[in-house]
Amino acid sequence: MRKKVTVVGSGNVGATAAHWLASKEHADVVLIDIIEGVPQGKGLDLLQAMPIEKRDAYVLGTNDYADTANSDIVVITAGIPRKPGMSRDDLLNTNYKIMSDVVGKAVQYSPNCILIIVSNPLDAMAQAAYKQSGFSRNRVIGMAGILDSARFRAFIARELDVSVENVTAFVLGGHGDTMVPLPRYSTVAGIPITELMDKETIDRLVQRTRDGGAEIVKHLKTGSAYYAPSAAVAEMVESILKDKKKIVPCAAYLEGEYGINGLFIGVPCKLGSNGIEKIIEIKLTPEEQAALQKSADSVKELVSVIGV
Ligand code: LAC
Repeated sequence: MRKKVTVVGSGNVGATAAHWLASKEHADVVLIDIIEGVPQGKGLDLLQAMPIEKRDAYVLGTNDYADTANSDIVVITAGIPRKPGMSRDDLLNTNYKIMSDVVGKAVQYSPNCILIIVSNPLDAMAQAAYKQSGFSRNRVIGMAGILDSARFRAFIARELDVSVENVTAFVLGGHGDTMVPLPRYSTVAGIPITELMDKETIDRLVQRTRDGGAEIVKHLKTGSAYYAPSAAVAEMVESILKDKKKIVPCAAYLEGEYGINGLFIGVPCKLGSNGIEKIIEIKLTPEEQAALQKSADSVKELVSVIGV
């Protein structure tokens, strides 16, 4: 039997996630939203693209959570995106209400699923979903690190004029202005970028990575990025459903790892059929540890506002 993935939210991120998932034949996809008509229309449109793509994936758009029953993975993109001048944190209260409602319904119908949280502010929303679901921590994962590191990888590849396939990048911390790209663990064909670029260039790329989301919001004006965020979701889904055990940066609930306790923050995770199967701990320099702690402090501030 094919795997089933529900995507909650049929806006740009949700619909594009459904697109990647179906076109890569990762699973059958249910696209659900409270808005009537949009998930149905986009779902049907995607279904009709499958013969052209030569993919056997069933896509269904719906407003009814009964259709999501027994999903292997539920991806939550529901919420409002930011507008120019807003930070991800400005979305906190509105998206928390939406998240609580959606998680309650989703886990009622798919009690054994793995949750992938995409809504912003990411780390706080993942924490809200974790608390609301009552799931074990390996089954609630925040998408952000793959997106942030993909931005860093794209910029590195452009700067050095090399294939993106040669570039790996490492980003720790919250999905916000305090994220912590780690140049010494970012490589081109295994060579640390610190050997290939001067500090000024690396600093410029790091800053552009940190501002990566805002740069796109500024262009779009009415919303935020969606191609890369949803491609990141597809990579997480693939690693889980195929039990690939990829090590990728994700927001995970830490219980002492990296000296952080009781908080979601981005760290390298092994993703397999049990969700987060391992959190990889690496030794940080005192500066890197301080930057991670600063990032954790800003997430802590948000979760204390919503009390999760
Ligand atoms: C971004 C938003 C989606 O980083 O958080 O583009």
